Formats: sequence, C-alpha cells, structure tokens
Amino acid sequence: MKHQNLPKSLHKNLQKNLHKRSHSELFTPFLHQGATQRPRYRALFNYLQQQIMAGKLPADARLPSTRELAELLKLSRNTVKQVYEMLQAEGYIETRHGDGSYISPQLQLKAVSKKSPTDNTQTSGIQLSDKSNELHKLRTLHSHSNEQLLLPALPALDQFPWPQWQRSVSHAGRQMKFSSGRSYMGEPELRREIAGYLSASRGIRCNMDQIMICSGSQQGMQLAFSMLLNTGDKVLVEDPGFPGIDGAISTAGGVKVSIPIDEQGFQTDIALNRKQDAKLAFITPSRNYPMGYTLSLERRLQLLQWARQHGRCIIEDDYDSEFRFDGPPLTALQGLDGEHSVIYSGTFSRILHPNIRLAYLVLPPALVEPFNRMRGFLDGGLSALPQLALADFMARGLFASHLRRMRKLYKARRSYLLQRVEHEFGNQLTWEPSDGGMHAVFLLPQGYDDQAIAAKAERLGLGVRALSYYYDQQQPRSGLIIGFAGYNEAQIDQGLKLLKTTL
Ligand SMILES: Cc1ncc(COP(=O)(O)O)c(C=O)c1O
Repeated sequence: MKHQNLPKSLHKNLQKNLHKRSHSELFTPFLHQGATQRPRYRALFNYLQQQIMAGKLPADARLPSTRELAELLKLSRNTVKQVYEMLQAEGYIETRHGDGSYISPQLQLKAVSKKSPTDNTQTSGIQLSDKSNELHKLRTLHSHSNEQLLLPALPALDQFPWPQWQRSVSHAGRQMKFSSGRSYMGEPELRREIAGYLSASRGIRCNMDQIMICSGSQQGMQLAFSMLLNTGDKVLVEDPGFPGIDGAISTAGGVKVSIPIDEQGFQTDIALNRKQDAKLAFITPSRNYPMGYTLSLERRLQLLQWARQHGRCIIEDDYDSEFRFDGPPLTALQGLDGEHSVIYSGTFSRILHPNIRLAYLVLPPALVEPFNRMRGFLDGGLSALPQLALADFMARGLFASHLRRMRKLYKARRSYLLQRVEHEFGNQLTWEPSDGGMHAVFLLPQGYDDQAIAAKAERLGLGVRALSYYYDQQQPRSGLIIGFAGYNEAQIDQGLKLLKTTL
C-alpha cells in the first residue's frame, strides 16, 4: 500500500524498518492533534512514548532519521533530536552508532498494553483496602461552598482584618529564614501563643510542649484515634453528633457506640453503665454539635472519673466554645483536673477562616512523646509559614481583638436571625435554645421532612442543614440548622426568603 502524503524515500524506509507498518497511519494523529500542543518537543515525546507503549512501534524497529522525521512533521531538526535524546535517556530507544535509532529490544516484554497509559477507559485493577471500602458505607459529608447563604460554621469573612493578616504573612516569610529545626509538634512560636491563650481563656492546664499543631481538628482526631484504638475498640460518641469523625474512627479500626444526648448533653449514666469497656469517648462538652447543649458539671465529673478509674481517654472537641454569648467561655473539661485523661482539640477554622486548616491538640503529658514519634512517620509536621503567620497575628493581639469583635457581632446576628425567623415562620420553626455558637437549630413540626427541605434549599443556594442527618442510632428529630455568623442582616433576610419557598 502506497501512502500519498509521505516522501518516497521515507515511505520505503519505514516499510522496511517498521515491519511494513503504515507510517502515515502512525504519524497522522500527531499531525492532526499533537502539532498544536506546546511545547512541541514534549508533544512529540509524549506521542512517541505512547506509540511505543501501545506496541505500535515494536521492539527493534528502526525509527526514521531525525532529518526525515523533522521534514515530515514540519519541526526543526533540533526539536526531533531533543526528543530522541529524551527517549534514549528514559530507555525507550537506543542509538546504534552509524546506523540509526531503534526501539529498545527489551521493550518487547514491557509493551503489555495495547492502550495508551493515559487512556482513561483503562481499568487499573488496583484494589482499595477494606478500610477505604468501609468509608463508602458511612454518611457522606456535606461539601462546603462559602458562596452558600446560611451555612453553619462560616465565619464573617468580610470582617476579617485582612491587611493585618497580610502583614503577619509577610513577617512569617521573613521569619522562615531563621526558622529553627523542624518540629513534628509544630512551630514553637505558635504553640507558645496557643498555650497562653488557652490557660487565660479556657482554663486549660498545659504547657506549650503538650500542644501539637494539626491541619484542622479532623487531622488531630485522625491521629488520636489511630494512636489509641485497636481493631474492634469501642468509641463512645454523642447522638446526634459530628459525622466528620466517623471516617477517622472507622479507618483506625474503632467501633462507634452512639450515646443519646439530652439538654444536659451526653448521657453519661447510659454511656458508663452500659459501656464500661469502651476505650475512649469523643464529645463536644462545651456545646454539643449540632444541638448546642452544654454538658452539665455533674456529668463532666462522672466522665472524668470513669476515664481515670479505667485508664480511658476522652477527646474533647471544643470546636466553637469561644462564641458563648451569655458570658465568658466555660472552663474546658480538660481544665477540670483532666489533663491526664483528656485530649483537648481546638481549631482556628471557625474563628479565623475555614480554609486556614490550622488546629491543635493538647495532649496529656504521657502521650506527647508517642504522638510526636508517630507524627514524624505520618506527615513530618506542617508547613511553618502559616503557623508563623498565625503566631505573629496572635502575638500582636489581633487574634484576641478579632475574637472579641466577632463574639459581639455573632450575638447580634443571632438575635436578628431569631427575630426574623419568628416573624417569618411562626410555629413552623421552633428555636432550640443554646448559649452561643455560629448556627441555630430550629425544630420542624411533625410531618415535615427536613432532608427534603434542605435538599431543596441547597438547590436555591442555601447551606442550611437537615438536623436528622446528624442522628445515628437514635430516633431523629426533624429540624433545620441555620448558620448566621457569616451573614449580615440583608443576607439573612435574603436567605430566609428563599428558605420560605421550600417549606
Ligand atoms: C463539631 C466539629 N468538630 C470539628 C470540626 C472540624 O474542624 P476543622 O475545620 O478544624 O477540621 C467541625 C467542623 O465544622 C465541627 O463542626
């Protein structure tokens, strides 16, 4: 078969060298698509690599000379030469002195696939672990978009002191130069600031050595569960509770034991009488997520006693206790003589920005060394830059003043939301009281399907959540979780107007 568009000599050469394979067939796709890609040497390299891997250029076949190919593809000879050199360096071809370039004979064995390596119809055959398959059985987590209205947990991003933050970031850039050795626990400057803040405002008993900086409290929990759980160990959790920990418990081999909550929080009598053998408890004592109930002192003491008596651990997720509107934040569980049994978890996601991904664990002294060692193996610690920026931001008093301002603002925003909801929705939405936070929970009357309402609301651009989604084993209540912290009055009005159309 004669090819119309190839020079005579090249055609002859290819017929001989490529086992009579049609050369135009081989290079026509490149002439059509590859020639438009940039840089051209990379496009030709990729193309030839794919042809070799797909077996279209068989082992020992002779390639056209660089001059012939440059002529055919209308490329400079240097480009083709560079491509041949790259192919040679990676072992696809070999140059035989005075003869030409040949597909490496060894590739006969390796060219197993007829499909190109970038062909996405190819099935990899790679098996996921049982642990990752387990994740598919869990409640899927909501995807977040800061564009949504009434999204719980979104701070007032327009109120954030961006110019001052930028100064802290550039200060951190300069500090990097002097950054001392790497610490898996986190930058000492930030840990010092956090320790000072926690002892002053949260009653936490710790020194900076006990603080480990994490990429979000999700990571902290992942670390804690994998350090403390053996396969089959039970973990007491609140129901309703925070579904974000399900994956961390599951991948660490733990088994969740859901404990109902009431207005005084986690029901310790049920938890401790029936589940003495649990290895640890994960709770949100300052403000249950999502209901907002505070764990009573009596129950706090019971829980601490259980942990001490049986050598158990409590993970205290203190995700937004800073926003208590009716007084200063309550003393953390850790501060109630719990420094040996409690791992305290705090986050900057809600105070500063959800994407800052900085959080911390306060570890009991005995866990510091093992956690530190494990962190070295796991991720080698976090980038110093954002940590140094936050340390500077805190040292300059900007964190504390932002927090004070936001506490006042969120309190006012919540009052506005409650007032507007009462006015617009009457008996359809009943507020479930809480002493603070960034969202409010409203119960729906019987017969209202909160998940259907939330799904409709999402299609309208709202981030309102269905309360029943946060229940695990207990009979769910139907209600809506409405975020107010990140929205001004006009935005709250707009959100509620849209929400009204879904009920
Ligand atoms: C109760 C609770 N704990 C922890 C987290 C996770 O925080 P981070 O963003 O630090 O991973 C959230 C996030 O919203 C939360 O609601």
